[in-house]
Amino acid sequence: MNEKAILPGSLPAPRPQSPRKHIIFFALGLVGFAALTHCGWHASMVESTLLGESGCAQVDALSPQRDAKLSSTISDLLATKEFKDTAVGWLSGAVQVPTEVYDAMPEVGQDPRWEVFGPFHDYLSKAFPLVHKTLSLTKVNTYGLLFEWTGADSSLKPILLAAHQDVVPVEPTTYADWTHPPFSGYFDGELIWGRGSSDDKSGLIGIMSTLETLIGQGFKPARTIVVAFGFDEEASGLQGAGALGAAMRQTYGENHPFAFIVDEGGGFSDNYGTVFATPAVAEKGYLDVHVEVTSPGGHSSVPPEHTTIGILAKLLVKYEKNPYKLELSRKSIPYALVQCHGEHGATMPERLKRLIKHSAHSESALRKLENVLFEEKTFRALVGTTQAADIIHGGVKSNALPEQAYALVNHRISTESSVEETMAHDTALLQGLAEQFNLSYTAFGKVFSEEGPPAFGTLTLKDAYGTSLEPAPVSPIRGSGSEAYQLLSGTIKATFAAHRSLKDGSGIVVAPGMSTGNTDTRYYWKLSRSIFRYNHKGTIGLKNRLSGVHTVNEGKSAMSADSLLEVIRFFTTLILNADEAMSI
Ligand SMILES: *[C@@H]1O[C@H](CO)[C@@H](O)[C@H](O)[C@H]1NC(C)=O
Repeated sequence: MNEKAILPGSLPAPRPQSPRKHIIFFALGLVGFAALTHCGWHASMVESTLLGESGCAQVDALSPQRDAKLSSTISDLLATKEFKDTAVGWLSGAVQVPTEVYDAMPEVGQDPRWEVFGPFHDYLSKAFPLVHKTLSLTKVNTYGLLFEWTGADSSLKPILLAAHQDVVPVEPTTYADWTHPPFSGYFDGELIWGRGSSDDKSGLIGIMSTLETLIGQGFKPARTIVVAFGFDEEASGLQGAGALGAAMRQTYGENHPFAFIVDEGGGFSDNYGTVFATPAVAEKGYLDVHVEVTSPGGHSSVPPEHTTIGILAKLLVKYEKNPYKLELSRKSIPYALVQCHGEHGATMPERLKRLIKHSAHSESALRKLENVLFEEKTFRALVGTTQAADIIHGGVKSNALPEQAYALVNHRISTESSVEETMAHDTALLQGLAEQFNLSYTAFGKVFSEEGPPAFGTLTLKDAYGTSLEPAPVSPIRGSGSEAYQLLSGTIKATFAAHRSLKDGSGIVVAPGMSTGNTDTRYYWKLSRSIFRYNHKGTIGLKNRLSGVHTVNEGKSAMSADSLLEVIRFFTTLILNADEAMSI
């Protein structure tokens, strides 16, 4: 996935404060969940002890009922050495086919670097013969893979499983720093090494392995399963998921034809002594602003008071002196996540727990909570619209006045805001300086001060590459419409417990997460209201510790065999649960 930073880590404890004398707890009624109608499964959801919008209600573990026998057969299979070896071989083989993509590659057919996906497809068809025999395959824009496993019951909405084939390039100069060569796929008995072993070939191979196994066991779906593998997710996804999204809208329609989508994203980790799984249900928006100043050139020996470069510098200082206002909305996903931490974090200090709980209905508590949470940069970045001047350019010669200078300011837009609001904010921010420096001002197509005397120069703001992106629609996590989220949650709980032989449903709490970056799902918004960016991969326990924090290899962590088996268990449970669910 491009740009991780999914979640804040453990948050700092609040500064000591005098306890409030009267804590008034308004009972607004318990959160009511629409019970899932599920063949043979009685939804006995644990009702939230918190209130309304702010609770972190948990569903029970959800295991396949109709296919209980098949599920337990596959569970037994996962415990065998033969299966483990096979699974390791599948992933190792995939890592050994380099599928690097680079930024700003010309389209498919015009750049030979795309051709690396040919051998990757050959590998997949050899490794997964049953999938290729049983499912229909459409190649979209040559290298996008779109599989369909047609279900027996066409009245059921299909599900979409997504992953990407490409990996981040390996700098040749860093080859020597790798513990094992980046495309070796070396298995050391615990970890499978190499670029993409985790991001995202583990997701792709996890899905393919699950399908191959289900077919091998004679499973035939009632509900159609669609699989989409993009091939340039690490470079904006336009060629791969962009084309796949268009093809799927054409085939399945634009009115949310899928019951849900699961793509790469958040996993599970330890926070405040509790394991939280955090499927990302939201994504921030995006805008690159090109800020350009022009003025008459001339000889440097007779300069004006401010050159274009000097003015541009003033504009950037103005930006940095005025960061976007940060506000923690109770309706936001980061707030919902914090509520979950507060409600379920075993080792969270009581004072912080109380503050979180209280913030649900007290403005002053909410402001205090903001003070605590905003101490952490990651959390601030998750909540607010960010700005960063990332490119600057101007001037050509030491004795010539620069006629033009520009900078690029990158924004990640808060889920509570929009592209339009961000443009309006920047427009207003710089208007005063445009007047002060006697510049005619055009911002995002809007022309200011058309009449009046001629200006000294111009100031222009525009969407730098036309790549602005609204914040993603938030997938429902509460109430009606959230059935897919409930199903996913129950699946996560069942998988986690089964993989560790824990009492059903214990050991893990599901909380909504979000990312500051985007996945291929940016092209899939019209395909489903329930989009989850989630890999069932964790960074807890001794066994998996390396896979999460090992950053020697450019932060692209190695995948453990055990994690891979758990990913397969997750997709198996998810597919079987979805197949028999009546609620989605
Ligand atoms: C703005 O610049 C123009 C062109 O140099 C000049 O004619 C005009 O007087 C300036 N206006 C002000 C307010 O300085």
